Amino acid sequence: MIQGVDSNKQGLVKKIYDAEQDHIFRYWDELDPTQRNNLLTQLEEVDFDLLTTLNSDLIHGSKKNGLAGNLEPAEFIKLPKTQDEEVRFEKAKTAGEEALRAGRVAAFLVAGGQGSRLGFDGAKGKFPISPVKNKTLFQLHAEKILASSKKYGVTIPWYIMTSLLNHAETETFFKENDFFGLNSSDVVFFTQAMIPALDPDGKLVMDARDNIFRNPNGHGGSLAALKTSGALDDMKRRGIDLISYFQVDNVLIKICDPVFIGFHVLQEAEMSAKIVVKTDPAEKVGVVGFMDGELGVIEYSDLSEADETARNGDGSLKFQAGSIAIHIFNAEFVERETDGGLNLPWHLAHKKIPYLNENGELVNPESPNAYKFETFVFDALGHAKSTVILEVDRREEFSPVKNAEGSDSPDTARKDMVAQYKRWLQHAGHDLTKGGNHAKLEISPLFANDPDELQEKLSGDKNLGDYWG
Ligand code: UTP
Repeated sequence: MIQGVDSNKQGLVKKIYDAEQDHIFRYWDELDPTQRNNLLTQLEEVDFDLLTTLNSDLIHGSKKNGLAGNLEPAEFIKLPKTQDEEVRFEKAKTAGEEALRAGRVAAFLVAGGQGSRLGFDGAKGKFPISPVKNKTLFQLHAEKILASSKKYGVTIPWYIMTSLLNHAETETFFKENDFFGLNSSDVVFFTQAMIPALDPDGKLVMDARDNIFRNPNGHGGSLAALKTSGALDDMKRRGIDLISYFQVDNVLIKICDPVFIGFHVLQEAEMSAKIVVKTDPAEKVGVVGFMDGELGVIEYSDLSEADETARNGDGSLKFQAGSIAIHIFNAEFVERETDGGLNLPWHLAHKKIPYLNENGELVNPESPNAYKFETFVFDALGHAKSTVILEVDRREEFSPVKNAEGSDSPDTARKDMVAQYKRWLQHAGHDLTKGGNHAKLEISPLFANDPDELQEKLSGDKNLGDYWG
């Protein structure tokens, strides 16, 4: 046993030995009291029983390949084509607007991820993205929330989930920018939990003498974090029962979309999802569907080639409901879903994780060497008693910044934003084929947050050029 541990921490030390993780004390004798405390504090948060199960089930067991079972596609509400369908959408919009005006809706951003593919040095939300003003993702989201709050004459509180990786810098960024015009008391930050990675032998990975490698527990961790942080209670106090969930990297996100909220409310759904129709079988996006009868998102790697390319009679793909990570939750559903902790399955990812070698030197491996565990929020779909799955126009609602270059990059996101602004201007009656090069163009959400608002703002306007900044 190791020396110099307070008597009240002896139980923890025993647990670590019992779990055969005592290699993490290898440098104990070299650590100063602060470092020792640092290490023990991290270990106190570790659920060793969970790790033992994940090691046996996921790394070594039968659940390793995450077999998805019998797969069936899910029905969804299609974009309106007929007049009747237009009327149905208008009704949904009216119901959604009523819920917004009644102050029932909160915006909920998950921003605890590592953003490793983008390779940006800092929280992803701080990435400057807008085509002309170079506004950050956080500022764009904030301005959309401010615009909707003004439009519906309410305060739409904004809950932001971060993780240990970016919590402090996110809060500081908002403070430095005066919360982008929002009331600081209506922006609520909280962190999600972290979970350690394991090596192929089921051992914790040390990346410093006083540190074990941990990652945020996936966006599925947002549900438990809403509960444990007190955010759900805060919502209750504010009279919020509908939570509009979005991710930090989608530049076209319609936050608190009344149509989506309306369908959700009218159909008495507990958790809903927006989808875009997948037309290219090879597109690497999960699809909403049933796995052994349970609704969820089928990962693209779980679709056989035959399923991936299978088509319906009308030529559309059989599995076409591409998941875009936009949801609405009932606060009550989140309460039930998190009763007793995080109630979602864990997924495994084989990753390159920095570690200390036998000489105590830090190594950044060139190939995957250990396993990370994550939960996915869409796995909660199968637990909802009722769900709305709503198709949206990809060009208007989905363009994520995932990679530094190529597809889903800052470059494609800016192009998609400019294309959207041009469509909106055309809708407002302005012919952009004449005069000027509009390769760069930007409309602030505070000026107009949708095409109809833009049309209204510009009606009777003789000189659009006045607005060119
Ligand atoms: P991604 O799955 O794209 O991951 O997250 P990421 O961390 O942003 O980027 P990579 O994969 O490392 O390149 C989608 C959304 O879910 C959030 C992210 O912040 C993003 O808004 N997320 C992801 C969390 O909040 N917590 C997590 O543990 C994981």
